[in-house]
Amino acid sequence: MMYTRPRRNRKNAAIRAMVEETKLGVENLIYPMFLVDGKGIKSEVTSLPNNFRWSLDTLLPEVEACMKLGIYTYDLFPAVDESLKDKIASYSYASDNFYLEAIRTLKQEFPEMTIMSDVAMDPYSSDGHDGLVINGEIHNDQTLPILAKMSLAQAQAGVDIIGPSDMMDGRVGLIRETLDDAGYENTSIMSYSVKYASAFYNPFRDALDSAPKGGDKKTYQMNPANKREALIEAELDLYEGADMLMVKPALCYLDVIHLLKENFNIPITAYNVSGECAMVYAAAQKGWLNYEPVMSEMLLSMRRAGADAILTYFAKDFATMVKR
Ligand code: PBG
Repeated sequence: MMYTRPRRNRKNAAIRAMVEETKLGVENLIYPMFLVDGKGIKSEVTSLPNNFRWSLDTLLPEVEACMKLGIYTYDLFPAVDESLKDKIASYSYASDNFYLEAIRTLKQEFPEMTIMSDVAMDPYSSDGHDGLVINGEIHNDQTLPILAKMSLAQAQAGVDIIGPSDMMDGRVGLIRETLDDAGYENTSIMSYSVKYASAFYNPFRDALDSAPKGGDKKTYQMNPANKREALIEAELDLYEGADMLMVKPALCYLDVIHLLKENFNIPITAYNVSGECAMVYAAAQKGWLNYEPVMSEMLLSMRRAGADAILTYFAKDFATMVKR
């Protein structure tokens, strides 16, 4: 005699759906996309198949198609020409910055589109670091005003959610203060609060050609071995004014997502980074894994761990699958 038979709650599709604990919908996804200056460009990222560097004219119809699939939030990253990069990332707030111009146009064309941006020096820096390099070191406090300027320029262009990904201490507070002083008190901040020095970012750095020219990012991004430290980072960002806290990467850090969800009462997000998606694309291309069920399971695991929203390169494919 067995009193408890868990299989009874799995016996048909209706019961399985009725007792399903975690829901994953297109509304939970944020789609990261790469922008490049020019016209008629749609160039695939070799290490991230199915993802492209778009010029504004090719991006517009693509965004329209994605909006029809129910994707409303986008994280946009600029691929900046090497000749425009300098020590202080001045192109990030230049008046003729193509990326800021593109954001203005997108917001005009698609008023219901929510745009998130990235705040860090790396795509604009001749050193390829997220902060200012002085004598071979990443200088925290001298980086802060640059990040504040970059954030303000993005808010002025119409960005809805500022995403500081640089991991400098104190940046969320200065950005919040700068935005408020300029009248952008409704511009949100999703802080890359717990961002690890991970080996999973390579395809992203290929897409933007933004890899560090020397050294690594270990003096500012977190050690993958650390979990309690995540609570300090999250606490600081919450009190400095972050609206949402992100854990990045996601897949190897589900325990950290869960930890933040249990300890903080603002939305927790997860960045399903380029290397995590690249692994799935590669295995699927080889016929070793089944693309759609694997990517759905991966995204579901992040939701189950506690992520309210997920940034993922799978967004369009997931939305297409759901529509079908
Ligand atoms: C920039 C930034 C990076 C990513 C997001 N913002 C790269 C890095 O920190 O080196 C990685 C995203 C991905 O791999 O998909 N600071």
